[in-house]
Amino acid sequence: MHNDSRFLKACRREPVDATPVWLMRQAGRYMAAYRALREKYTILELIHSPELACEVTMQPIQAFDLDAAIIFADILPPLAAMGLELDFVRGEGPVLYNPVRSPADVERLQVHPPEEKLSFTLDAIRLVRQELAGRGTPLIGFSGAPFTLAAYAIEGGGSRHYAKAKQFMMAEPDAWHALMTKLSQMVGQYLLAQAHAGAQALQVFDSWVGHLSPADYRNYVMPYTRQAIEMARQADVPVIHFGTDTNGMLELLRDAGGDVIGVDWRIELDTAWQRLGDGVAIQGNLDPVALFAPWPEVEKRAQHVLDQANGRPGHIFNLGHGILPETPVDTVKRLVDFVHEYSIRQGVR
Ligand code: CP3
Repeated sequence: MHNDSRFLKACRREPVDATPVWLMRQAGRYMAAYRALREKYTILELIHSPELACEVTMQPIQAFDLDAAIIFADILPPLAAMGLELDFVRGEGPVLYNPVRSPADVERLQVHPPEEKLSFTLDAIRLVRQELAGRGTPLIGFSGAPFTLAAYAIEGGGSRHYAKAKQFMMAEPDAWHALMTKLSQMVGQYLLAQAHAGAQALQVFDSWVGHLSPADYRNYVMPYTRQAIEMARQADVPVIHFGTDTNGMLELLRDAGGDVIGVDWRIELDTAWQRLGDGVAIQGNLDPVALFAPWPEVEKRAQHVLDQANGRPGHIFNLGHGILPETPVDTVKRLVDFVHEYSIRQGVR
């Protein structure tokens, strides 16, 4: 039954009755229900409690006609599981207090089975699957990609230029490869464990990969993303491979793996799909800032994305990056409904 959902069909490039839509970071601060829970709990408390994570995962599903749920978690707990001390600091975002700055720091990192250190998310997945059983809405599990995780591990938090991470890559190639080997094992095992717990699709977030040159991507990153995705594919569920600013490396990203490639708004959807070819589905790519515009402008831009896909099987509508905290909820609701209505009128083949 779940296999017949629009979302999973689109992942497999099968025809659907309407274009499936979900939104990256669809559970979050733009929703009053989420903010109310955040008054009482920190983000890590929400993530570490399977019951609360399940509740947050369901909030956007209850509010909008979304075609997929995504488990409420973050890309950074796997770094905590490897030995980095993680916190989210108000106004600053994520912080890792003991970042990786030397070959010895890489040695220190441990790859434990996800069942041991990340069982809260696996348990949350089991709970959400029970909640979703009646609706037939599929559940997406996710992980950061090895590069984006390495970037946080080395920087110790967010960064503008990723200078420390790239410097480490260039100055300490052996330690870099050792770090990426550990991260690809962690990511592969974590994704596989999520699928075994019940996730019906898996998304790999390589959010900051666009900071790399194509040559550096090929030499220092691609083999590790490929290993992680190959391990995840043992579960036989579709993998979505997402990155931002990937214009210069789109074909490489595709060759690293994934049944669906996620693209941002810096490239036209049809140009991206032409470059990617017939072998993959595509996810994207409305600018998240477009949701701040008056409705007629949002509609025009959403229509542009759908016109670019032109009813070709294998398009999953999404934003080009995560939804922003100040996004008007009413616009989100209208957008989700518009994607369905317009694509039905358009005739999805
Ligand atoms: O999509 C969903 O609804 C699932 C939940 C989800 C979160 N983070 C919850 C979260 C997902 C898929 C993520 C992924 C994530 N986390 C990424 C990749 C996606 C992307 O946007 O590129 C990245 C880079 C992170 C790291 C991260 N987590 C940052 C940089 C921040 C702070 C920035 C911010 O928006 O405040 C977080 C915190 C975070 N993760 C929040 C949520 C809802 C907001 C924290 C809060 O509630 O205060």
